[in-house]
Amino acid sequence: MKTDTMIDANSGCGRSGLSRKNFLKLSATAALGAVTLPQIAGCGPVNTGADCMKSLAPAGGAAAKKPFEETSIGAIRLRNRIIRSAVTMNGVDSAGRPKDSLMQHYRDLAQGGAGAIITGMRDGGMMIDNFLFREENFKDFKKVPDIAHKLGTPIIQQLSHHGRQLSMETERKGFINRLSDADIEGIIDLFVRGIDASKRLGFDAAQLHGAHGYLLSDFLSPAKNERTDKWGGALENRFRIVREIITRAEKKAKGFPLWIKMNAYDNQDGGMRTAEAVKIAKMLEDMGIAAIEVSCGIAADGFSTVRVPEIPSEAIIRFSKYDELPAPLKKVLTLTTPLVARRFEPIENYNVCAAREISANVKAPIIVTGGIRKIDDIETILASGAADYVSMGRPFIIEPDIVNRLKKEEHAKSECINCGYCIMAANKTDVKCFYGKL
Ligand SMILES: Cc1cc2nc3c(=O)[nH]c(=O)nc-3n(C[C@H](O)[C@H](O)[C@H](O)COP(=O)(O)O)c2cc1C
Ligand code: SF4
Repeated sequence: MKTDTMIDANSGCGRSGLSRKNFLKLSATAALGAVTLPQIAGCGPVNTGADCMKSLAPAGGAAAKKPFEETSIGAIRLRNRIIRSAVTMNGVDSAGRPKDSLMQHYRDLAQGGAGAIITGMRDGGMMIDNFLFREENFKDFKKVPDIAHKLGTPIIQQLSHHGRQLSMETERKGFINRLSDADIEGIIDLFVRGIDASKRLGFDAAQLHGAHGYLLSDFLSPAKNERTDKWGGALENRFRIVREIITRAEKKAKGFPLWIKMNAYDNQDGGMRTAEAVKIAKMLEDMGIAAIEVSCGIAADGFSTVRVPEIPSEAIIRFSKYDELPAPLKKVLTLTTPLVARRFEPIENYNVCAAREISANVKAPIIVTGGIRKIDDIETILASGAADYVSMGRPFIIEPDIVNRLKKEEHAKSECINCGYCIMAANKTDVKCFYGKL
């Protein structure tokens, strides 16, 4: 069945008149491993929020899920249904070890009631120098799951490869389309190594990052995967790298649960649509995936995955190489950035209806992320069965104890104003809440 919202999510999208390349030049952070690259063109707005929330009906009776009930995902026990979505804190030092600030953040999240913590990709699970666990850092990294477990909180290591979003050059060249078979085999090995290390370190699961335009997301996307060999073309071919990782991980790290974060739509011409995401979710379910987190968008498109009410120009310039320019030039750039950068609407609950489509078609637990802020909305999402869990990113930055707070009647919503400064900071420095000011 196709809902109105699904049609919205699946609608084609036009490019703005301004060239993306120019904006990438203008605002590119060019930082290796940038979390997000502000954009100029993309498509949208994709309306998956307000109308969707109105259309959700409570399942009623025993089927109605509640935010603060204890549940299990496989053998993992969660004390509630509110999960910290992966947020890169830049919490790893130059030798690849977790910093004290990262340990303190996990402590705060666990004490603050998070149902589970998904680690940021660059906090131990990124497949480039220093960001993927190294054996010599094993003892230091062991402290990460240990601290979460001591405080009764499951912790899942996110594993990612930046793919074309590694740098401006790889972005231009479309990274995955130029990989040889041997390169792809090497990347599969890296993922399997990361999964095995996550198991040995004592994480409860590993989450494959298959969203936001990073490597696995690019392989899955019909718009970004231009390969004509066994790794591209038909859906089964585009899915092959994920299938290989899961199959080989099952041999190396037997029984270790795998989660995935995937795009239900990506706002690209000819790109991922919810109907195809449903097919992928079914394939993942057949392979025994333990949980699917539903997201959207491509980081290089700017504020589509992480949405903002206004373009955070000041933060874009401050956390890019343009910060070194003379003050008057920076001023001009700050003023002109909102003219070229693109943001997407709605700001809240933007993946809920896409998650509902996936939920309706698979039995695997579905986690939905993206602009979820209010306890009333969380109750509606869960009670309607649109998802089994919700996850939040920014609310846990500004209030690591957001779950404990939401439990109290007087705190009905996150204090996050969605300014987006934290995501820009993630390109350059330790992540914290800036609350719209530098
Ligand atoms: C500072 C920052 C870092 C992020 N790092 C990651 C990451 O490492 N992996 C990932 O899958 N998503 C990452 N995200 C996206 C979030 O997990 C989440 O999907 C997105 O922020 C939407 O949720 P929110 O509106 O609750 O923040 C990051 C978001 C922010 C703000
Ligand atoms: S900087 Fe703070 S207020 Fe702004 S989006 Fe991030 S968490 Fe929310």
